[in-house]
Amino acid sequence: MSNAQPELDALQVADDELWTEGPPHETFSRLRRECPVHWSRGIAQSPHDAGFWSVTKADDVHAVSRDWQTYSSASNILLIDHGVPVELVQGMFIGMDPPKHDRIKALFQKAFTPKSIGQHEDAIRAITAGVMDDLEGRETCDLVTEVAQPVVARVIGSFMGLDPEDDKPWAESINQLLGFGDPDLNPKGIEQLVSEDLPPMYEKCMRLVEDRRAHPTDDMLSTLVFAEIDGDVLTDLEIFSGFVLLMAAGNDSTKATYTSTMRALMEHDDQRQLLLDDLSLVPSAVEEALRMFPAFAHFRRTATQDATLGGCPIRKGDKIALWYPSSNRDEDRYEDPERFDVTRNPEHQAFGAGGRHFCLGTALARLELKILVEETLKRYPTMSLAGEPTWVISQFSSQLKSLPVKLAA
Ligand code: HEM
Repeated sequence: MSNAQPELDALQVADDELWTEGPPHETFSRLRRECPVHWSRGIAQSPHDAGFWSVTKADDVHAVSRDWQTYSSASNILLIDHGVPVELVQGMFIGMDPPKHDRIKALFQKAFTPKSIGQHEDAIRAITAGVMDDLEGRETCDLVTEVAQPVVARVIGSFMGLDPEDDKPWAESINQLLGFGDPDLNPKGIEQLVSEDLPPMYEKCMRLVEDRRAHPTDDMLSTLVFAEIDGDVLTDLEIFSGFVLLMAAGNDSTKATYTSTMRALMEHDDQRQLLLDDLSLVPSAVEEALRMFPAFAHFRRTATQDATLGGCPIRKGDKIALWYPSSNRDEDRYEDPERFDVTRNPEHQAFGAGGRHFCLGTALARLELKILVEETLKRYPTMSLAGEPTWVISQFSSQLKSLPVKLAA
């Protein structure tokens, strides 16, 4: 930006060093004040890259999200791909523009209305109770791997028609793929992950696809397999991409939000007490956690034509990152945005900011989160931190890697 201070000119928002403990909230707060639409030069991790725009205010995130003609999702929805094959991303309907995007999404929408999702409440509560029963007699556990992961994996696994024994291996593969830049989740590096682990994942998925072709079911994998868009079925790669999209969206985002909610409640005893006194506040607390700790730090768009955003000249081909951890703490929208307030029940952009790609799974995520938080509070009202939580190092998937807790005081 020509009118930015030199320091802002040099600021590289996606620098790994800023992201070791979650999103860089101070940097975002400064950008919202001083340079709400900010240009970062070549991405540190890929120096030949041209750079990108950061959109940090809620109104601008909203404007970009609603204008898919100018801000396309079809090039890539990731700012830094680290080597994730672009064809995989473009085969997901989140990585497509209308009309194809709309046609595929429409196939799923009926199953994801609050009414349809409400019918799964008992099943989700039973899954949650089962996972917590397995902790009987334990004093400590890791909420990420021992509570959140098995619950969300079984819920999305049941929607996809997977066998329960496959939940863990699929969840591990998806974790690796989403946490592509984190050396703990991905010790071999993305190139090897792509060359060694992706082909068996694809083949495993294709075996399930063959099975559905021979024996159609009413699960979401069958929906992908039998989808017909203008007389054409999806390609095998599009089916695989759709499968990965639904598995990734269903697993990691809900897991991320549950664990950040619980962490915030353990760190704010007064707020937890409000919930313990009145469990009907749980949905409001969940919305507040979604606002403060959105599970996806960004989605990217690419300009299809020259445009102006927040007074800045966007050129055709420029990359644009919509930073939800920033827009959700926008001082123009929220009073005292850094305060975690379980009674706030805010609107937020954790599920996107409207427009074509608005999250398909909001009703499912909200129901899972309500049940998970309620059941945790009922069983472990005095749960406390038993060690330092750690973050996945990622500018995309914003979540804790571990959250060690003491189950009872
Ligand atoms: C707390 C949990 C979740 C969060 C924070 C979340 C967030 C998001 C966000 C930010 C987007 C992109 C919005 C945009 O680009 O405008 C998205 C899209 C999507 N989400 Fe979610 N999500 C969650 C749970 C789920 C669940 C449980 C599912 C279930 C399968 C799901 C399925 C999807 C799908 C399929 C898309 C792509 C929609 C499209 O391109 O039209 N999400 N989600």
